[in-house]
Parts: sequence; structure tokens; C-alpha cells
Amino acid sequence: MGDSLFVKVWPAIVRNEPPLIGELRRRNLAGLAGRVLEIGAGTGTNFPLYPPEVTSVVALEPAEGLRVRAERAATDGRFEVRPERLDEFTSAEPFDAAVFSLVLCSLPGPEAAVAQVRSLLRPDGELRFLEHVSAEGGMLEGLQKLVDGTFWPRLFGNCHTHRDAAGMIRSAGFTISAVEDRMLAPAWAPVPSSPLVLGRATA
Ligand SMILES: C[S@@+](CC[C@H](N)C(=O)[O-])C[C@H]1O[C@@H](n2cnc3c(N)ncnc32)[C@H](O)[C@@H]1O
Repeated sequence: MGDSLFVKVWPAIVRNEPPLIGELRRRNLAGLAGRVLEIGAGTGTNFPLYPPEVTSVVALEPAEGLRVRAERAATDGRFEVRPERLDEFTSAEPFDAAVFSLVLCSLPGPEAAVAQVRSLLRPDGELRFLEHVSAEGGMLEGLQKLVDGTFWPRLFGNCHTHRDAAGMIRSAGFTISAVEDRMLAPAWAPVPSSPLVLGRATA
């Protein structure tokens, strides 16, 4: 992956993200333990939030301009930042947990990606997810469909705002044990990436 506009702007976006996102990032990782796979780690924003019970994190980040930052954020020996895309990645050893954090929106073939993540987990392994998702009807959903078909994916690293993360996770065979819907912007504000879901699922 080359240094697209997204790779140039994403570090500034995460530096300036609203406190709600920070709170949801922390809750997405709370209580994790053992060997964890993070898909699309970006600049490694989540790294300082992993609990001490997590013994190792394999963090995939194919975009070089973000990966170098993630490598700098990997300040202790628990983190291994790898350049593979998810569809290229294999592991002989199953993971105890996997983390999606604002990434399912930009994965090509998201249904197959979720199924692959399930296959990388041990039986009863856990998936944590914090994703922005499709709105349920109204003007906002119409806007999401419009931007997804025009400029949004090109501007924001293949990001699609109209994806049903929880539905795809369920369809891949996971059992969702907790799910919480949040809005990043006030309901009246036409922000396509505003609806968020925070959840936990078991393989
Ligand atoms: C919006 S960023 C989120 C970064 C990080 N997860 C976070 O919470 O800050 C999406 C990330 O997914 C990565 N990505 C895109 N396609 C990918 C793929 N096929 N496999 C793994 N990572 C991918 C991008 O390079 C980017 O870093």
C-alpha cells in the first residue's frame, strides 16, 4: 500500500479524536488476556490501552506510512507489528482474541474477512469490535449510501460508512454477547461515520 491521502491524514485524525472515541477504545480492550490479533492497527493508537494480562499482540498494518508509526508506538516487547493484509495472514497458533477497531469499514470483502478472523481464533476465542456502522433509515442512511458510492472510500482509505458490522459478525458464526450503539455526532448532524457499535462476540 502506498502513502495515499488517507495515510497522510489518519495520524492527524487520531491525534484529534473526540474523548468518546478514546473511552470506547479503552472499553473495547478492557478485560482482554493472552494472545491477541489486532487487524489494521493504524498508528498503534490502541497499543497503550491493552491490559497487562495481554501477553502478546500481533498487529497487522499493511500501509507502510502507518506501520512505521505503529512500530514506534510498540514500546514494549508484547507487540509484533506485521505488514501483511488480513487475507495474506496465517498463523500456526490460534489466538485467544481478535480486535477490530474502526477497520471493518475499510476491509475489502468484509464478510470473508470476518470468517477468516473466526478461523484464526481458538474455539470460544473472543472478538472485540468498535466500528462505525450503517444508520437505521432516515436521511443519515441515505447520505451514507450516497457518499459510499462517490468520494468517501477514495478519500478515506476504502472506508464504507454503510456496513452492518454486527450483522456480518453474526453471519460468520460468532455469537454476540454484548453490543452497544452510540452516536459520535448529535442526531441532527449529517456525519456519515457517526453511528458506532461497540461489542463482544465468541467464536
Ligand atoms: C481507519 S484505520 C483504523 C486504525 C486502527 N485500527 C485504529 O483504531 O486507529 C483502518 C486501518 O485498516 C488498515 N487496513 C486496510 N485494509 C486492510 C487489510 N486488508 N488488512 C489489514 N489491515 C487493513 C488500514 O491500513 C488502516 O490502518
